[in-house]
Amino acid sequence: MTVFPKNFLWGGATAANQYEGAWDVDGKGVSTADLLKGGTYETARTFTKEVQPDTYYPSHQGSDFYHHYKEDIKLLAEMGYKTYRLSVAWTRIFPNGDDAKPNQKGLDFYRNVFEECHKYGIEPLVTISHYEMPYHLTEAYGGWGNRKVIDFYVKYAQTLFTEYKDLVKYWLTFNEINIGMLFGGYMSLGLPVKDGAAPFNGKMTDEDIQNNLQGLHYQFVASALAVKIGHQINSDNMIGCMIAGNVNYPLTSNPDDVLKAQLANEINNYYCGDVQVRGAYPHFAQRFWDEHHVKLEMTSEDAEILKEGTVDYYSFSYYSSNTVTANPEKAEAAGNFSMGVKNPYLDYSEWGWSMDPKGLRWYLNDVYGRYGIPVMVVENGLGARDTMEADGSVNDDYRIDYLKGHIEQMKEAIKDGVDLIGYTPWGCIDLVSAGTGQMAKRYGFVYVDRDDDEQGDFSRTPKKSFYWYKKVIESNGEKL
Ligand code: BG6
Repeated sequence: MTVFPKNFLWGGATAANQYEGAWDVDGKGVSTADLLKGGTYETARTFTKEVQPDTYYPSHQGSDFYHHYKEDIKLLAEMGYKTYRLSVAWTRIFPNGDDAKPNQKGLDFYRNVFEECHKYGIEPLVTISHYEMPYHLTEAYGGWGNRKVIDFYVKYAQTLFTEYKDLVKYWLTFNEINIGMLFGGYMSLGLPVKDGAAPFNGKMTDEDIQNNLQGLHYQFVASALAVKIGHQINSDNMIGCMIAGNVNYPLTSNPDDVLKAQLANEINNYYCGDVQVRGAYPHFAQRFWDEHHVKLEMTSEDAEILKEGTVDYYSFSYYSSNTVTANPEKAEAAGNFSMGVKNPYLDYSEWGWSMDPKGLRWYLNDVYGRYGIPVMVVENGLGARDTMEADGSVNDDYRIDYLKGHIEQMKEAIKDGVDLIGYTPWGCIDLVSAGTGQMAKRYGFVYVDRDDDEQGDFSRTPKKSFYWYKKVIESNGEKL
């Protein structure tokens, strides 16, 4: 008997724009991600309206999965993966987003990838939209700020459900949909930004909040429609939401801190989770809208659609926790999507993210208690600098420690009674960081020879964590 259920979905996760490369190959269109330059921890990624020659855009080469997929899936199989979470690049299927017909070469590529997965008994888990959309939809329609984009997304999702009916059963409609909530306007919602701007700097006016929440509303409707259609096309389809798991602790027992943490959890997690799982906006939404002068364009038909298109399972990413305080004098903690103050009980990564395995247990219990549907951790991991030794080995013990701590806490959560069905650590093969655009911030079990100066031949080398994770899967989570 193992703590993890017999059919537990062990695996790993990647996203097209950070991993595939081949950004303009075989008819692929320009995506919003293709216009983001590289950055660092200190310098934000900036956007250019057009692809400029001689400028480095990390997504253009990624880790070149497009030309390495057979080798990569073989490596995943060697680790014993049961599932592989990957995203489809919308621009490979509909290069402009509003095209009449899909691009056959794009459809063929993912068919080959999914077939390759099945060759090894790996179940694909597909994110329909992961932080990218055809840039044409941003330019010509204003991205998700325009209701029309719902139809384009639905057509795209329907194409995938139909085309891969016999190959894919697990789907996610949008990656980290709640990042669009407050600071992901361009990345998550494709809302237009000025040339040269850093689109995710976290500083929001009420007007930005209005625009983001309106775009998010359209995404909710699109997601719900996709869930409905996905079920009609194949009643076996399991279609989930994907939320950036935001654990917020109060810095002190001061009731003001406690209320602040509660509000942060409500806004960052339940606002989206409730719409996608329960089919309606939560009780606290109206006050939040009023306080930020938000007026949403929302029809009664939308409300019906949201009710009818609720998800089958709840998936989320979890990297770190936040600590918040009502005291404005406390210093801010770093981290691209994190907020609040430093937690004195936790260590922080080089990129300023707290390392808090117990926060994962807390979150699992919290969301399972709220929603009562199966839960999956579809991202987790440590972004760190790796060194390849002279003998070619990469001894990433820090990554093993991080993952081990989190798997231990998943075990505790299962013992607590949480119905946890899968775990796909992030960036299982090294890829570009979404937040900073760096290759130097690595998550993988497999090292990819590529750096931020565009050097390297993309060769793959298993790290120490590769062999460790293989044993974890083999023992169904018993040998950590
Ligand atoms: C999640 C995203 O926010 O975190 C991924 O879904 C991203 O796309 C991951 O890569 C890690 O963040 P970063 O900034 O370290 O790449």
